Amino acid sequence: MEKILVLDFGGQYDLLIARRVREQGVFAEIVPYKKITLPEIIGKRYKGIIFTGGPNSVYDKKSPYFDSDILNIGVPILGICYGHQLIAHMAGGSVNSAQKASEYGKTDVFAKPCAIFDLVPQKSVCWMSHTDYVSKVPPGFEITAVTDNCPCAAMANERRKIYGVQFHPEVTHTDCGKLIFQNFLFSVCGCKGDWKMEDFIEKTVCKYKTELKGKRVICALSGGVDSSVAAVLMHRAVGENLTCVFVDHGMLRKNEGDDVERIFRSQFKMNLVRVNAGERFLKKLKGVTEPECKRKIIGEEFIRVFEDESVALGKTDYLVQGTIYPDVVESGKGDAQTIKSHHNVGGLPSVMNFEGIVEPLRDLFKDEVRAVGLKLGIPDFLVMRQPFPGPGLAVRIIGEITKEKADTLREADAIFRHELESAGLRPSQYFAVLTDTRSVGVTGDARTYGYTVALRAVTTDDFMTANFARIPYDVLESVSHRITNEVKNVNRVVYDITSKPPATVEWE
Ligand code: XMP
Repeated sequence: MEKILVLDFGGQYDLLIARRVREQGVFAEIVPYKKITLPEIIGKRYKGIIFTGGPNSVYDKKSPYFDSDILNIGVPILGICYGHQLIAHMAGGSVNSAQKASEYGKTDVFAKPCAIFDLVPQKSVCWMSHTDYVSKVPPGFEITAVTDNCPCAAMANERRKIYGVQFHPEVTHTDCGKLIFQNFLFSVCGCKGDWKMEDFIEKTVCKYKTELKGKRVICALSGGVDSSVAAVLMHRAVGENLTCVFVDHGMLRKNEGDDVERIFRSQFKMNLVRVNAGERFLKKLKGVTEPECKRKIIGEEFIRVFEDESVALGKTDYLVQGTIYPDVVESGKGDAQTIKSHHNVGGLPSVMNFEGIVEPLRDLFKDEVRAVGLKLGIPDFLVMRQPFPGPGLAVRIIGEITKEKADTLREADAIFRHELESAGLRPSQYFAVLTDTRSVGVTGDARTYGYTVALRAVTTDDFMTANFARIPYDVLESVSHRITNEVKNVNRVVYDITSKPPATVEWE
């Protein structure tokens, strides 16, 4: 199988790069620069290598570096941002730092003909994010693009098939980003583009068939898209050795527990254990209001429940989780800042009784996970469901969590989802939040003092950024009317009109 190596130097967008490559039907493997050696790279016969961006300056002593002989192995290379500067540095050029030259955001770029800019207009818009810049290209290289502030927005050594771009072609704001990847992959690297999702499935199933042979495996099944796909994938790999443990932590949506149980038992015929642990979680969460604490407690309790289950089931060696890439990034990768500890990553307790954790979807984006799910034969209605966070309603109840609040939120949330779906609206994610605010209202002639429910609906491709959904007022009106009439203790409904950033999708 033809493969591209994405050599990760700590950039924020490394998975996005891999995704752009995979979108072209070429498999991309992301490997941190410290985890692979030059002989290994040679041995793996990559069709091309992409150096990612990174937050460092090439001259800092501690900055990521790689054996500069990588430039001499005859494999085409594309360096992006830091990767571009690193190529210049390795090959004998110069990199400078100047506040004056720093650029951030959409920038006009002027390109000269070269293999990766084939069909790219002389002037187009690119996404820049840098302070350092290549001030002198290495011998044998030519400047192939400039911006008003950046004297070397791209460079190339066509003979050696080594290219560098200061801007980010992987970000959709770069007009010709897709074209640049296509040129690199097909014209420069000579890829065919015949990688398919089936290949991912086959490779993953094959890998775990070997690695987990004879091992007993538990899958943490939440019924959401990610864990469902992970479960079916692992079922293919280890069959009867897999037991799915579905923890009902009491923070599920209305009727969700029963639905999940029914579908997995009847449709997939998997070993399934349902644990009703609502009270156990509530006890642990009593009095807790701090969001990160809630997440950590739930994450930890999840593992404890699994451990207990594995004891009940006899020895279990591995735990499968449906972690996907955005969970990993947002839980803090390398030097990137921690935004939230997603319960299936950051909140994991350090003491575990399993031999290890298996996360077969760890490198995939949501839409890729869905594509895998459909290919695995999971029904549309399950695969295309909106995402639901591991900690469930707990991150949608602001302040202390009680059973009464969870029940209130369940009702309001079910109404909101029902009304939107009935109106034919399907934003990327839509749910209700129970705020900690109570306010005065009036019902009939009586004063009320009830909760405020916030409605949240967003549109997004990858959940790393999102816009609030433009829901028609008449739909909002009927949601508000129904919630205030049908849900006890709620007398006010508001709509969240914040995008991400600066907000996040979930409120906690
Ligand atoms: P945020 O709130 O971080 O959400 O903007 C981005 C996406 O991630 C989901 N999310 C989670 N998913 N475990 C998960 O599996 C979690 O702890 C978690 N927290 C947030 C969120 O619903 C949205 O789709």
